[in-house]
This record gives sequence, structure tokens and C-alpha cells, in this order.
Amino acid sequence: MASLISARLQRLCCRYGCSVTIVIGMIVGLGLSTAIQAAEPIRPDLTPRLQGLLKEEMLQIEQAMQEIYSAMLKGRHAEVAEKGQSIHDSFILDQSLTDEDRHALRSAVPQQFLSMDAYLHELAAMLAEAGRAEDSTRQLETYARMTESCVACHSAYVTDRFEGLEGVDIPTDWGKPVAEEQETQD
Ligand code: HEC
Repeated sequence: MASLISARLQRLCCRYGCSVTIVIGMIVGLGLSTAIQAAEPIRPDLTPRLQGLLKEEMLQIEQAMQEIYSAMLKGRHAEVAEKGQSIHDSFILDQSLTDEDRHALRSAVPQQFLSMDAYLHELAAMLAEAGRAEDSTRQLETYARMTESCVACHSAYVTDRFEGLEGVDIPTDWGKPVAEEQETQD
């Protein structure tokens, strides 16, 4: 669809000179790559109870991430595995919520939000696995992916609180587990 539009623009613009085409191409491209940030803040759509649960969960995840950072630097693999697992297990959509909460949350948020949440969930399991395998390289790679997933979701859905992330150009594949990215590239 987007490539169709830009092909049409190209044909139109070549009559006027190709520098115009390039500029327009760049504008179209920019519009696309920032599409993920066009999402609206999610909090106003959540009940106070759900907001509270989510916030509590986020604070726990942030703390676990800080502890994992510290453990990775020192080669404390068992701790990396344990904290990675704890992020995976305490994951909001799986555990902290009653059935009713879960239903309310799922119907209040867009599909992309749920996917991003699922990516983080999957990455946390991968990190735990890398901890158990005592594989520092894989721990660092996975940790970086997880950090991307925090920034990607916050820049799309939490700009009402994190203004600094508004309009930041985030690559669309940020936070996706590696396997999935390779699948989509093939
Ligand atoms: C699927 C989306 C999503 C992902 C992924 C995500 N967050 Fe969040 N995060 C939120 C939302 C929504 C809020 C706002 C909660 C609120 O204030 O009601 C938030 C808020 C936060 C806060 C602020 C909590 C507070 O009230 O002080 C922290 C800290 C945080 N996230 C850490 C993280 C970390 C660390 C990661 C990655 C490991 C992460 N988040 C990944 C959606 C996400």
C-alpha cells in the first residue's frame, strides 16, 4: 500500500525533477517508520484497579532488570536465571490478574499492546534460559532486546507519562524476540 503510493508519487514527481521525488520519498518513509508511535496513551482506557496493578508490575520488572544487570556483570548466572524467570512468572497478563481483570484489560488495550507484552514475556524466558546455560553473550543480547521492548511500548503507549519518548523514532522490530524477527525477514 505505502509502496504503491510512493511509486505513484515517483511517477508524478519525475516530471518535476528527481530531487523532489527523493524528498517526498523520505517524508513518506519517515511517516511509516514512526507509525508505531502514533498509538494513543493507554492509561485513560484502564480502570483505576488495572492501572494500579500495571504500575506495581512495572516497578517490580524495573527492579528485577536492575538486579539482572548487576548479576550479569559479575557472572552470577543463577541469579540472572532466577530474576529472568521471575519477570516471566509475575508477568501481568498471566498471573497477577483475576479472570475478570484479564478480560477487562484485554478488551481495553489494542492488539499491538498485547503483542508487545507477549514479546517481553518470551524474552524473559529466553534470558532465564541463557542464565541457566551460563551463556553471558546470550544474556547480554537478550537483555538489550528486553530494554528495547520497554522503550518501544512506553514510546507507543505511555507518552502521557514519559513525554521524552514522544515522537522518538523507534525501529518497528524493537523488542521482538530474535526468532520471530528472522521469520519475518525470510
Ligand atoms: C506492553 C507494554 C509495556 C512494556 C513491554 C513495558 N512497559 Fe513499562 N509501562 C507500561 C505502561 C502502560 C506503564 C504506565 C503504567 C501507569 O502508570 O499506569 C508503564 C510504566 C512503567 C514504569 C513506571 C512505573 C511507575 O509508576 O513509576 C516503569 C518503571 C516501567 N514501566 C518499567 C518497564 C520496564 C523495565 C520494562 C521492560 C523490561 C517495561 N516497563 C516494559 C507498559 C509497558
